[in-house]
Amino acid sequence: MTGAALRLEVIVGSVRAGRFAPTVAEWFLRTVGADPRFDTGVIDLAEYPLPLDLAENDAVRAFRGRLAAADAFVLVTSEYNHGYPAALKTAIDSAKHEWRGKPVGFVSYGGVSGGLRAVEQLRQVVAEVHMVSVRESVSFHRVKRQFDAAGQTADGAAIDGAARMLGQLAWWGLALRTARADEPYPG
Ligand SMILES: Cc1cc2nc3c(=O)[nH]c(=O)nc-3n(C[C@H](O)[C@H](O)[C@H](O)COP(=O)(O)O)c2cc1C
Repeated sequence: MTGAALRLEVIVGSVRAGRFAPTVAEWFLRTVGADPRFDTGVIDLAEYPLPLDLAENDAVRAFRGRLAAADAFVLVTSEYNHGYPAALKTAIDSAKHEWRGKPVGFVSYGGVSGGLRAVEQLRQVVAEVHMVSVRESVSFHRVKRQFDAAGQTADGAAIDGAARMLGQLAWWGLALRTARADEPYPG
């Protein structure tokens, strides 16, 4: 790894009352927290009241500032009616240049689909804001059965997927950070 650790922002997309999201997000944050390639932060959308009308306010400016300083993103998404949470769409639409020329990975969860349908939709949306989505992702099927009371999982596919996804995010993150420093992204 060349230079400083990559700044990775993990964005938690579910804001539902009684959500399961913190269990998944905290597991992923523990996983990436041990990885020296990344300096990791978390943006929990439940704590960022981004307006639905996309008006600019202090929360939006703070959110954009976090994104601007990031080299890579992970979107933690649940699946609702074969889609991803509305709060996550509002978050993506609340910024523009801050996303551009940066890689993104996905940690999804849900019922039988493991959130994979939400991720397929997100891949279309992140391409529109000039992000590069990495191929590998983490998916928890029947998510509530995959974690014990301490928030640990024995889901081998998810654990393996996280390692592969982080490898791809580190590769793209470094390549694109270097490229953005050499020449501004054309947009
Ligand atoms: C409104 C709603 C719709 C859902 N639709 C789906 C779905 O289409 N596919 C699926 O696999 N799970 C679905 N689920 C199950 C959720 O993925 C599961 O409850 C998950 O825990 C939701 O994330 P959260 O608890 O962080 O909000 C749905 C849950 C809710 C509340």
